[in-house]
Amino acid sequence: MESNTQYARMDYWDKRFETEKNFEWLSGLEAFQHIVTPLIPKSSSIAHIGCGSSQVSMQLWNLGYKNITNVDYSKVLIENGRLEHPYMEWIADDITTLANCESSSFDVVLEKATIEAILVTEKSAWEPSDSALQNLENIFSSICRVLKPNGIFISVSFTQPHFRVPALLREKNWSVEMFEFGESFHYYVYVCRKGAAANKELADRYSSIAKSWLRPL
Ligand SMILES: C[S@@+](CC[C@H](N)C(=O)[O-])C[C@H]1O[C@@H](n2cnc3c(N)ncnc32)[C@H](O)[C@@H]1O
Repeated sequence: MESNTQYARMDYWDKRFETEKNFEWLSGLEAFQHIVTPLIPKSSSIAHIGCGSSQVSMQLWNLGYKNITNVDYSKVLIENGRLEHPYMEWIADDITTLANCESSSFDVVLEKATIEAILVTEKSAWEPSDSALQNLENIFSSICRVLKPNGIFISVSFTQPHFRVPALLREKNWSVEMFEFGESFHYYVYVCRKGAAANKELADRYSSIAKSWLRPL
């Protein structure tokens, strides 16, 4: 039987993208567009990190966003993307470093379900491993580095705020806000603004249950 842990392996994604042209994790833009588009002016430079074969970048393009960079560590996916959608930028990069992305180059960094893929080998949502926390710190500091001052990180996720808000609060250089969407199964949009002060009410509400996500390394 297939195991979810494969989602943490680059060779799994490379193989998958040899044939997969379009697959949407969690949901398409139409379900959370009402939350994110008011936050993003049309002139924004947007990086969709861990983009996979999602159509969110193409949907944003069709809404009038014309400065879009797609980032994924699968070179197979990036090559396919360049061939099929040459009007957008495509960068092969690991989101734990974003080493191939310039500092202060994006107004918006968007991720959907990629942090979940990276954390899939974790044994417990209550007791994250040191390596999970280190990965998160690396991802968040890399995102902060590539964001322009006042830029925003948008994370679309199924992870409950009791687990995700304290994780996001490991990064001290941004504020954290949360929105919810979905009818039966609920999803979350976390919005972090670089250079803004943390929202104390949200931090207090969500930092007391799963405290290990804030444990110092
Ligand atoms: C669960 S899929 C999500 C794809 C897309 N964001 C969506 O919502 O449909 C995870 C994606 O992240 C990519 N990925 C996983 N780990 C990564 C990493 N460390 N750096 C960059 N991309 C990564 C995979 O290649 C895959 O395309």
